[in-house]
Amino acid sequence: MEFQAKTSSPVALRSGFLVLPVFEKGELPAVTAAVDKACGGQISKLIKQGDVEGTLAEVCSLPQLEGCAAQRILLLGFGKKKEAISGDDFDKAIKKAAASVKSSPAKDVAVAIAEVAVKDRDEAWKARHTAKLFGDALYKVNAQKSGNGKVIALKKGFYCCDSKKTSAINSALATGTAIAKGMALCKDLGNLPGNICTPTYLSNEARKLARGNSKLTAKILNEKQMRELKMGSLLSVAAGSDEEAQLIVLEYKGGAKTAKPTVLVGKGITFDSGGISLKPGAAMDEMKYDMCGAASVLGTLKTVVELALPINLVVIVAAAENMPSGRATKPGDIVTSMSGQTIEILNTDAEGRLVLCDALTYAERFKPKAVVDVATLTGACIVALGNHTSGLYSNSDELAQKLFDAGIKAGDKAWHMPLWDEYQKQLDSNFADIANIGTPGAGSVTAACFLSRFTKSYDWAHLDIAGTAWTGGAAKGASGRPVSMLVEYLLQHA
Ligand code: BES
Ligand code: MN
Ligand code: ZN
Repeated sequence: MEFQAKTSSPVALRSGFLVLPVFEKGELPAVTAAVDKACGGQISKLIKQGDVEGTLAEVCSLPQLEGCAAQRILLLGFGKKKEAISGDDFDKAIKKAAASVKSSPAKDVAVAIAEVAVKDRDEAWKARHTAKLFGDALYKVNAQKSGNGKVIALKKGFYCCDSKKTSAINSALATGTAIAKGMALCKDLGNLPGNICTPTYLSNEARKLARGNSKLTAKILNEKQMRELKMGSLLSVAAGSDEEAQLIVLEYKGGAKTAKPTVLVGKGITFDSGGISLKPGAAMDEMKYDMCGAASVLGTLKTVVELALPINLVVIVAAAENMPSGRATKPGDIVTSMSGQTIEILNTDAEGRLVLCDALTYAERFKPKAVVDVATLTGACIVALGNHTSGLYSNSDELAQKLFDAGIKAGDKAWHMPLWDEYQKQLDSNFADIANIGTPGAGSVTAACFLSRFTKSYDWAHLDIAGTAWTGGAAKGASGRPVSMLVEYLLQHA
């Protein structure tokens, strides 16, 4: 969906759906008052009758009104007029509006919310979020269902603004649209089943991203090449699977030759059965989502490429399938990682850290400015933070702060968790340098501690997205997180 700035009066603007703000106590913003006046006071009449209260995220859909060019009007509540709302509340209201417009026959939408004040946010932020949230709402699952689903008519958006702001708003709208595209790729890959989205499928997707773009190169390492690099830990995860593991390396050079790259590393377990430490059967299908870290770093790269950002970015995906078989790794096995550290594998279901540690060692060769890994790493992170917030760990408080702030600004939040030394000894092994699971307690922290043993030579952060990467239950589907946080971080700091 394309969004563009519009400076004409909303009264005269021909659109399929015009979104107009309303506040509590019948206090109308000037734009809504102007439409109301042009339509003979029909809006204020509804307010007086009590049909519209203006509470946050309230929606009221009206058919075409005589005097206003729009085919439909959506009154959208933003709470009290004199109070600036929070970014989260703004997102909540826009999401509701997008859902209403999406389910209508409107082919385009005009949003006239210049008078809505958001705390600490400017007009460009509002425009970016509007484009992103509308774009994201239009996402359609690429489901393997026969027959055609409901056709969505909405194709185009207009963001009403002051003529002085046109170019700033257009650029913010383009950013928002590109983020939605990155999220859509992330969701598409996440939602695909494990029999289609294999490690090889992911590597072909990576090649597709790089095709025809001279700034982007894809390099795929197969198991033989990984063996030469001594990636014994990553390979131990793939040992039980008939699918060949892949280390996907995408290099985007949009910045100065000498500028150090940011490296994003994604966990790409295309199906996590648990291996010999087999998972219980309930909801095991959801372990097709165990490559959502990989999907999110590929989605982020997609956005960066769309926007041709002037940065250097490396994306590494450690892709493998975790399966039991006669050749599978067994509890008690000891493997040697690329770093030389030996690992006692006490539980083959703690496989994410085993593929990530070798990818993180591989990342050293890029002399990175910072490395951020993204992984559906632990059920314990869901116990700690539920489904709203990703876990954030870092060996640099400064980097953690930047990612935290990016999460807040993007409405894609993470909480800074401890990575203190006290936890490290939970990973002691009698037989190897480190065990792949910790003693009971703080499972998300000890998983991050494990990774920290491999990231000593650079600034590093880890995002545990086990609780945020997808929604279960009836509305099962990938969320597209944390693409928008990562893009925000890259826009600010890369
Ligand atoms: N992919 C899982 C983590 C997970 C579980 C993510 C549920 C989202 C929902 C990971 O590979 C795993 O199995 N972790 C184990 C670690 C344990 C064996 C130390 C876990 O969390 O139970
Ligand atoms: Mn597992
Ligand atoms: Zn896993």
